Amino acid sequence: MCRMVKKRLKPNSLKKLTREAWMAKYDVLIVGAGIAGLYAAMGLPQNKSVLVICKDVPWECNTFYAQGGMTTALDKNDIALHVRDTLEAGAFHNDKEAVEILSRTSLETTKDIIRSGMEFDRDASGKILYAKEGAHSIARVLHAGGDATGRYLHHFMMMRNKHGLQRNTLVYDLLIEDGRCYGVKATVNYQPTTIYADSVIIASGGVGSLYQYNTNSRTVSADIHGICVEKGIALEDMEMMQFHPTVFVKTPYARKLLLTEALRGEGAHIVNEAGERFLFDADPRGELASRDIVSRAIFNYKREHPGEEVYLDFSMFDKEFFHSRFPNITKQFASLGYYFPQDRVPISPAFHYAVGGIKSDINGCIDGIEGLYVIGEAASTGVHGANRLASNSLLEGVVFAKRVTDYILSKETQRVKPPKFDNDHGNILHKENDKIYKQKLRQIMWEEIGIVRTKSGLLKAKNMIYDMKNREIGRLLALRLNTASAIVEAALDRKISLGTHYIESVKA
Ligand code: SIN
Repeated sequence: MCRMVKKRLKPNSLKKLTREAWMAKYDVLIVGAGIAGLYAAMGLPQNKSVLVICKDVPWECNTFYAQGGMTTALDKNDIALHVRDTLEAGAFHNDKEAVEILSRTSLETTKDIIRSGMEFDRDASGKILYAKEGAHSIARVLHAGGDATGRYLHHFMMMRNKHGLQRNTLVYDLLIEDGRCYGVKATVNYQPTTIYADSVIIASGGVGSLYQYNTNSRTVSADIHGICVEKGIALEDMEMMQFHPTVFVKTPYARKLLLTEALRGEGAHIVNEAGERFLFDADPRGELASRDIVSRAIFNYKREHPGEEVYLDFSMFDKEFFHSRFPNITKQFASLGYYFPQDRVPISPAFHYAVGGIKSDINGCIDGIEGLYVIGEAASTGVHGANRLASNSLLEGVVFAKRVTDYILSKETQRVKPPKFDNDHGNILHKENDKIYKQKLRQIMWEEIGIVRTKSGLLKAKNMIYDMKNREIGRLLALRLNTASAIVEAALDRKISLGTHYIESVKA
């Protein structure tokens, strides 16, 4: 399928050149096998040589863990309202054109996905069921398998993918020279490898592993954002980090357990120890306010009532309904000793989604770098403003995947001969003390660049991050630290609270 870079291999040098033997050149290389990467692959015809790569197994991605659903405009008449809800949730910091594209295109992409065989949940008469979630004016969220929308969508797209997919491929550099991207350097099954491509689409997700408490797949660790910082590629809105309000964090695993927003959409309550709902003090919409408001209200409640828990309460649900609407949450929590709907579960906000990212235009193009594109959570098109509306992320994945592939296919193909890239960090990805520093970084990010920030906390974090950068560290940690620096610098630059960025002045 792929065109190999022409290279004569002398028989006696074969052993030495195994690395070169991997040097394939593709039309399109897609970095990431979540919804954005896979839908981009679905949009590229079979006569293109396309490779999708992912760091681990393909289901280790945020798409796989998405529970609630995928927003869609219900019809043409709903576009204006969906746009308004998205802008309001985003504190009007959004790029309005991107939001209009998101909503308008959803009519096309949803139809395409359903026509291609994706089965969303339907009622007994076969009509699609739409759920309501926080900050949506109406029910317009598609779901599948009850509370396993991401897993179903991911499986569906994996089955439809007609191109090569290569796992265990960890990108540690982008091959960029004179404003053009030629491919990536990556370890493939731990072996340093060069992969050339005329077009490289970054669809590698956000920054979850930077935070001590997060809902993200362990593979989502901000490496490519860090490479962009190194190469002078602009990141945007990096202070806008979204915290999901209802997460069970009392597990030893890095990924904390999400309790989907759809639970509140169906009527679950957030209560204190005494069973009282306190969110109405923060917003008249109570549990259905936008995520930034709900997360902050829980954070503040806990701060004002040290030692007290906050709970998600399902006692109002009929047992049969709950089990059929939320089968996976029911099973997962039963294995932890919580039996729903009768048991309430202690919750905390946790990092969930990078609203900001690698700056791109509405076609996924990155200003100043030919042949390099970004889509999905990794990108910042401005579509989410200062805070993402619930379930707009799977939609963003498909809409901007469609736009980037339409764009690439509409362009005259430029066959480019890659120059030689000498610098290779392949053998120093990790160093001895990285684990300790990574843990320290997660703690700093959570405590100082989290839900509520202060100027002094941000300055302290900035200092600690720079200190770690000057230590003996491996490349992957250095990349994480680049991204962390970008977040702290952006947070320091925005002096006034907006959306997910909440800055508190310390009382004297
Ligand atoms: C959820 O199910 O609450 C998460 C979905 C999203 O992040 O929009």
